[in-house]
Amino acid sequence: MTTTDNAVEQSALDQSAAATSPTASDSGASASASFRSTSQYSGAGAVTNAARVDALARALLGAVHQVILDHEVTYPEFQTAKKWLMDVGDGGEWPLFLDVFVEHAVEEVASRTQTGTKGTILGPYYLPEQVQLTSPATLPARPDEQGTPLLFRGQVTDTDGTPVPHAVLDIWQADEKGYYSGFAPDIPSGNLRGVVTTDDRGVFEISTIQPAPYQVPTDGPTGALISAAGWHPWRPAHLHLLVSAEGHRTVTTQLYFAGGEYLDSDVAEATKPELILDPTDVGDGTRQVTYDFVLERN
Ligand SMILES: [Fe+2]
Repeated sequence: MTTTDNAVEQSALDQSAAATSPTASDSGASASASFRSTSQYSGAGAVTNAARVDALARALLGAVHQVILDHEVTYPEFQTAKKWLMDVGDGGEWPLFLDVFVEHAVEEVASRTQTGTKGTILGPYYLPEQVQLTSPATLPARPDEQGTPLLFRGQVTDTDGTPVPHAVLDIWQADEKGYYSGFAPDIPSGNLRGVVTTDDRGVFEISTIQPAPYQVPTDGPTGALISAAGWHPWRPAHLHLLVSAEGHRTVTTQLYFAGGEYLDSDVAEATKPELILDPTDVGDGTRQVTYDFVLERN
């Protein structure tokens, strides 16, 4: 076999693998496109004040300079970092990298003024405008969707305990293999995503499956950093939620599962003890859990 034949065969193998396995570049492209198209998260409240830009830019550059001085960074290390930064941009991985490694600090600042349900990071896998459902609801799933059935129920109230009628739960999650629709091939658009309206007492009941832990993509520059540093790329299993209602502050959060792997070592540092579910088996293989959300009035 010639080198060209080898190259052709390898290319065919790569394409075959890409048809079934998510890649960092697929995920990165989807996350970048989603971020740019979701105006709610791509510019509202942006920094426009020169004094604020000056303060933040000086502080950020100062912190970088201090790392270089403290760790006596060499030219080869600087050039390696420069190439890596270029690769992250070329690979469309900035949403992934920033949401995994930086967003939790921004969320910590936001949560200082939050008195309702604890929030946590949005992450890179949110897609807006999913199917509208009314409670009791079943999230869209493949006919042969694998995974432990999960019945997720609860009530949305305000901070006084008053039910919030017709609150909206925008929910999205990974499947049993840890993959998200819209970011992995061979999963139908909108799978395990839905926008569920509660009843007139804020009560909701959502049938879905229990998601699996997942790795952030490891075959791109973010994965290269994780590997080079000897870290692990895993996130614990979770449900993502945006809980909103007219006249109330939206809560962006995630709910985790008691006893699950990586709860104490989430690569995105986004777990909180208040956000851990402990479902019980109801006997037929279905697990059931109740979690109530509290929204602050605007
Ligand atoms: Fe996630």
